[in-house]
Amino acid sequence: MSTAQICPSILAADILKLQEQVQAAERGGAARFQVDVMDGVFVPNISFGLPLVTAMRRATTTLLEAHLMIVQPDRYLEAFAQAGADLIIVHQEAAVHLDRSIQHIKQLGKKAGVALCPATPVHVLDEIVEELDLVLVMTVNPGFGGQKFIGYTLRKIRQMRELLEARHPQCEIEIDGGVDQQTIRAAYEAGARVFVVGTAVFGYAGGPAAGVQSLIEAAQPPGG
Ligand code: DX5
Repeated sequence: MSTAQICPSILAADILKLQEQVQAAERGGAARFQVDVMDGVFVPNISFGLPLVTAMRRATTTLLEAHLMIVQPDRYLEAFAQAGADLIIVHQEAAVHLDRSIQHIKQLGKKAGVALCPATPVHVLDEIVEELDLVLVMTVNPGFGGQKFIGYTLRKIRQMRELLEARHPQCEIEIDGGVDQQTIRAAYEAGARVFVVGTAVFGYAGGPAAGVQSLIEAAQPPGG
């Protein structure tokens, strides 16, 4: 069984100590990082945008994801690619011409991901799944950190795993929201392998390095 990849979400980081926190998370084994971009329209919250992606590009050499929780994401694909994102994730619910968006991201030389809100069924990806490098199953309603993992999304993760095993096994399954030392194991068993985590990393009592390490351990089957 492959090791869980922990992707700290900087939404929960102390922005005044970002470099230090990123380095600590890397020491704990963080495989990549995610910048949660929110526009206050697609989601009821505003977070950060291009300058923070540029800063994160300087803070880490690991894979950097830009999760675009914004309307009309096509407007900014080139800008996020230039800012340093390696993987750009658009929401299916916000990308009217999803195939065009995915092709554009790939023409920019970046990996392409699609995120689904909890109530959006897996089958919306039936026509395009082979074009994707990553699918992101939201396990909370996007917009805020520190929310509770939505239990029914476990079924959806299993459905996504079945779809990808049948059609596109090299595509990654990532989940985001409410992932912590108690919920990560069930999500791993359901088929998730990349875990966006904010609170349980940057809010972990023992610090980000210990938080990442404890999540990796909690995800593995008993006995490793
Ligand atoms: C939702 C946000 C959060 C965040 C992770 O839009 O993107 O899911 O990254 O938050 P935690 O790990 O605190 O639930």
